[in-house]
Amino acid sequence: MIKIISVVGARPNFMKIAPLHRAFLKHPDEIEHLICHTGQHYDEKMSKVFFDDLELPKPHFYLGIGGGSHAEQTGKIMIEFEKILIQEKPDFILVVGDVNSTIACSLTAAKLHIKVIHVEAGLRSGDRLMPEEINRVLTDAISDHLFVTEQSGLDNLKHEGVPEEKVHFVGNVMIDSLAYYLKKAGTSKIHEKYSLQKGNYVVVTLHRPSNVDNVEQLGSLVNLLNTVAAKRKIIFPIHPRTKKNLEVFNKLETLNKDVILTEPIGYLDFLALTSNAELILTDSGGIQEESTYLGVQCITLRTSTERPVTVDVGTNQLLGEDLPRALDAALEVLAGKKKAGKTPELWDGKAAERIAEIIINLD
Ligand code: UD1
Repeated sequence: MIKIISVVGARPNFMKIAPLHRAFLKHPDEIEHLICHTGQHYDEKMSKVFFDDLELPKPHFYLGIGGGSHAEQTGKIMIEFEKILIQEKPDFILVVGDVNSTIACSLTAAKLHIKVIHVEAGLRSGDRLMPEEINRVLTDAISDHLFVTEQSGLDNLKHEGVPEEKVHFVGNVMIDSLAYYLKKAGTSKIHEKYSLQKGNYVVVTLHRPSNVDNVEQLGSLVNLLNTVAAKRKIIFPIHPRTKKNLEVFNKLETLNKDVILTEPIGYLDFLALTSNAELILTDSGGIQEESTYLGVQCITLRTSTERPVTVDVGTNQLLGEDLPRALDAALEVLAGKKKAGKTPELWDGKAAERIAEIIINLD
């Protein structure tokens, strides 16, 4: 029996662990799977709603860490997670993505000689000012098994000298969740709730520190949204970090009143929104991938992406470097000029099953 503790901490982790949990449950004689929630995200709308929507069990361990500086958050997670590892002695810990919980838990496990599995390994933006980039590079450096979503991940790990036998190209577990829940999301009532007509509105998400922690940049983004709002309804679910900064920088009142601001939205309702959007404006990592899979137009308001396949193959345009150009591109999309896209290799809803098979057959 292989004992695995999977780690979730922040919002983008939940949809990645859900398909893995389902896949592991199909092997009850071979895998014992436990889930540890660090509590990095703790608001009901940033965390619990995802457990409900994704039919995840209540976590077996909850560390209750909450917010704080990077060092505080990472350090507190390590101290509490070490206690769980000493008590439970798992064969593997499994981490996903690039949040602070990812590096904190992998580092704790590696020091205890517990093997680390990293799902969504190898992605690189090349921008070390992003906290996520530091988390990615370090987690990959101490992982024993690295599961990769796109060709660039394989290339990056090879370039960094990671031995080939540790690396597996399996597809994208976040897309597993999307494919699995798309039909159920079709029953969402979110369009009625906000009087949105399918195919005729723009979804906005912004939460990167480089966009929302800087008063000038946030002001420029508000101007961009105001211009787009003159053409289409915008729905903008606001992340707690962004909300706080819009208030602190007095930008909330400068936002066009037609922009529909909401609290963070649960997984199924958000999927209903993105899958029927005419355009998505975002600085999220995951939404770049989801829009590519859905064939929905996406403009990413960042200067780099760790997910280049969404630009090379998918419907994503990376335009954060030049906001006037991003605005033009948004207006072009709304005038009917769409970027054609294809589904990246192995994004077929079966990545988690591949991962389970590989883990079972490890030496
Ligand atoms: C984190 C991840 C980021 C991911 C994002 C998704 C890191 C370094 N960053 O960024 O990669 O894209 O999650 O949301 O791990 N807050 C609440 N309630 C919550 C959660 C957070 O009020 O449930 C507040 C925190 O107290 C803090 C701010 O929001 O003031 C930011 O939270 P934090 O977890 O530090 O980073 P994120 O910006 O969410």
